[in-house]
This record gives sequence, C-alpha cells and structure tokens, in this order.
Amino acid sequence: MTFDFDDQVALVTGAGSGIGRATALGLAKDGATVVCLDIAGEQEVAAEIEAAGGKALAVRLDVRDAAGWERVVSDIGERFGRIDILVANAGIAVPGDRPHEVSEEIWDRILDINAKGVWLGMKAVLPMMIARKSGKIVNVASTAAHIGLRDAAAYCASKGAVLALTRQAGVQHAPDNIQINSVSPGTTMTGIQRDVTDEQRAAFMKLTPIGRFAEADEVAAVILFLCSGGSSFMAGADVGIDGGMVAF
Ligand SMILES: NC(=O)c1ccc[n+]([C@@H]2O[C@H](COP(=O)([O-])OP(=O)(O)OC[C@H]3O[C@@H](n4cnc5c(N)ncnc54)[C@H](O)[C@@H]3O)[C@@H](O)[C@H]2O)c1
Repeated sequence: MTFDFDDQVALVTGAGSGIGRATALGLAKDGATVVCLDIAGEQEVAAEIEAAGGKALAVRLDVRDAAGWERVVSDIGERFGRIDILVANAGIAVPGDRPHEVSEEIWDRILDINAKGVWLGMKAVLPMMIARKSGKIVNVASTAAHIGLRDAAAYCASKGAVLALTRQAGVQHAPDNIQINSVSPGTTMTGIQRDVTDEQRAAFMKLTPIGRFAEADEVAAVILFLCSGGSSFMAGADVGIDGGMVAF
C-alpha cells in the first residue's frame, strides 16, 4: 500500500518504538518529513528514516510537558512552516492496574501520558492547522476504550478519554477541514506487551477471533490511511484494528 505524503510534515509521538516507529517509517517512506518525538529511541528511528533516504527530525519530549509542546511546535513552524499531520500515539500500560489496587501516582501517570498527552499535542498543533484550514490528527486509543480489559483500570479510563476527546474534537474541527479520528488497536506485538503475563496473553488470545496478535505494521497501515486524503469525509470516527475483539 502506498500513500502520497510528499511535501507534508508529520509529527508522531511515541515514535521511538512499536506502532509509533512503524507509523513514522511508513509516513517517511511515502514522502513525509517526519518529526519523531519520544522520550527514548527517537534518534535511532530518525536515523533509520534518513538511512533509507527519507527526511526526519528527532525530538525528545515528554508528552506531559505543556511548555515543551509549545516550544517544539514553534520550532517546527520556524523550520518547516507547517504541520500537516499529528499522530498522537505515545502511551503506557502498567501491571497491577486494578481499581482497588492501582496507586494514585500510577493512575495519574497513566491518565497524564495516555489522555492529557494526547490533548496537549492537539492543543499545540491545532492553531497552525486552523490557520492553514488543513490537517489530519490520528489519536491512538485501544480496544480498552470499548471493553473492560482485566487489570487495566486506569488504562481503560485513559483510552476512553482519548475516544471521547477524538469524537468531540473531530466534530469541533470538521468545519476547519481538519480530520481528527482515532484507531483502537487490539493486542499488538510491541514493547508495551513486555510486562504482560503468559496468563494475560492467553486471555487476550481467547478474545481475538482472528487467532493471532497484530504486528505494528498492520496498525500503522490504518493510521497511514487516516493521515491520507482517503479519509477526507471522516470526522470523530474510531477504527478498530483488533482481529475482531470488540465485535466478538
Ligand atoms: N501494543 C498493544 O497491544 C496496543 C494495543 C492497543 C493500543 N496500544 C497503544 O498504542 C500506542 C503505542 O504503543 P506501542 O504498543 O507501540 O508500545 P511501545 O511501548 O512500543 O511504544 C510506546 C512509545 O511511547 C513512548 N512514550 C511513553 N511515555 C511517553 C511520554 N511520557 N512522552 C513521550 N513518549 C512516551 C515510549 O518511549 C515508546 O516509544 C500506545 O498509546 C498504546 O496504548 C497498544
């Protein structure tokens, strides 16, 4: 599958690994200049893009850093004059995340990175997109926004927030010619699965009718479509990439 992102500038959060890395590589392969933003691995992914002949810039930023967001977007504006695409993908999961056991500190960390980080990213890029009357934002939610996954209380709450915010922002900015949508991946073979126990993995498999877990590239392919001209009539929509988990 090939898209045309020539002359476009895309910013991907959590680009240092997993789904974000696959998305950054895909956007760059199809012509975008990709700003790889992360707290780890962003240099390596930007170097990988450049080694393949693409254009990339590595930026270290914690998505919770509101002032940092303003700085980064202002730098990108000065350097490139535009941001066409934001993929708000950075996220974490923490083991032992049960309603009666998760600590306040972990609850806040999960909500701050997974939900507030998505809002801060949109808040930072939207003024430039509104001014240019053009933009695509793809927020990475999860099946956890749709079903009650075991041991994922704060995680489910954070992804529910991403879904609701995407719906609201999608409606708010549809008249500005900015398409804001989300994806809800099911279990995907990335770093975030590193702390999942064998028991949890077996439970996820039972919930996945397709009978296997996703590769990061399979999730990135749908994100790339939402970043492309093909999504021109989509606003506030969520696309499941879950092997049938939510339909099950
Ligand atoms: N892998 C899955 O099964 C799955 C399923 C559904 C949704 N998701 C979502 O997909 C997204 C990407 O996760 P992944 O599976 O690629 O995992 P991953 O751990 O490989 O990648 C997450 C990336 O986010 C970065 N990150 C974490 N905290 C950050 C912060 N404060 N600021 C900036 N960057 C930060 C990490 O450094 C990492 O590179 C997440 O939002 C996750 O919740 C993953």
